[in-house]
Amino acid sequence: MRAMVLKGHGGPDSLVYDESFPDPECGNNDVIVRVKATSLNYHDIFTRNGMPGIKIEMPMICGLDVAGEIAEVGDEVSGWSTGDRVLIDPRNRVEGGLVGETIHGGLAEYCRVASHQLVKIPVGVTYDQASSLPVAYGTAHRMMVTIGKIKNDEKVLILGASGGVGTGALLLAKMAGSEVMVCASSEEKMERLRDLGADHAITYMDNQFHKGVYERFGKPGRRGFEGGVNMVVNFTGGETWVPSLRSLKRGGRLVTCGATAGFDPKTDIRFIWTFELQLLGSNSWEREDLTQLMDYIDGGKMNPVIDKILPLKDASEGIRLLEEREVFGKVIINP
Ligand SMILES: NC(=O)c1ccc[n+]([C@@H]2O[C@H](COP(=O)([O-])OP(=O)(O)OC[C@H]3O[C@@H](n4cnc5c(N)ncnc54)[C@H](OP(=O)(O)O)[C@@H]3O)[C@@H](O)[C@H]2O)c1
Repeated sequence: MRAMVLKGHGGPDSLVYDESFPDPECGNNDVIVRVKATSLNYHDIFTRNGMPGIKIEMPMICGLDVAGEIAEVGDEVSGWSTGDRVLIDPRNRVEGGLVGETIHGGLAEYCRVASHQLVKIPVGVTYDQASSLPVAYGTAHRMMVTIGKIKNDEKVLILGASGGVGTGALLLAKMAGSEVMVCASSEEKMERLRDLGADHAITYMDNQFHKGVYERFGKPGRRGFEGGVNMVVNFTGGETWVPSLRSLKRGGRLVTCGATAGFDPKTDIRFIWTFELQLLGSNSWEREDLTQLMDYIDGGKMNPVIDKILPLKDASEGIRLLEEREVFGKVIINP
């Protein structure tokens, strides 16, 4: 089959387009999915570069978020048939492992997966939309709703709002009825985020964005609950960490699921005690996050933001766009 194969950790050249990669073999409890759409994530860059503590067997096929139709069903699989439209939940919750990282993923014509990882795609959801969901929108849903418990009268600041998780967080915050301020690296991204529903947009390239928060919402008070925002969404880390703490009102929550710009930032503990802040970690998604998101799309309540749809041989270019911050929303690969 055709596949974009990771041969070893490194830069863009370590991903190689292969037209004769061995077809996957279907185990008794597996299905083979004919891949229609796979979305890219920043996680693919971490996998390509190599992450401390995560051992990856090479060659590996990346691509965590996979949607397609069932091409073959294992002898002991029940409830699924060839032709069914399915989304793969990348997390193998029984045997362990992650599709597109430690299990061959969706940057290929076919993907073998354990049948318990399948989620049915409703008729009103396209393959491209479904493939946008698990890693970015699933994580955003858990972070904003389950962990962050976002409410309708709250003020929210979202960093990295133009990316996969970021656009998901913005759409969910608006669905909850919050007033949302977003941070982005360019005027063009800010404009597009306003079009998507952001109430306010500021740049954060000078790491002084707490001043933009004070201008709009006032400076957080030490005694009262005036000023600042209720929630900061920060999966960027690095130099953005302290200004994020400074942006929160008393009792505010900082939710995080990642650290694109650095996982060991300088902090300032004074803000945490003085303003009784809560730092909330959120990791990945549960199956309910995916079914809820597909119901939203099926019911016309949400439309994931898709920037580009590229053929398989251009997957490396798609990853470059993510790395260079040239993406707005999701990049989808159609093998
Ligand atoms: N724990 C989990 O389960 C989980 C799940 C999904 C994602 N994550 C993490 O969440 C983060 C975002 O993932 P994603 O797939 O949404 O990424 P993405 O689509 O590439 O979006 C990231 C956004 O962050 C901004 N950014 C800020 N600093 C950046 C930098 N140094 N390099 C690149 N972008 C930067 C960019 O917007 P501007 O150019 O406007 O700043 C970009 O749009 C990643 O760190 C990822 O590993 C964690």
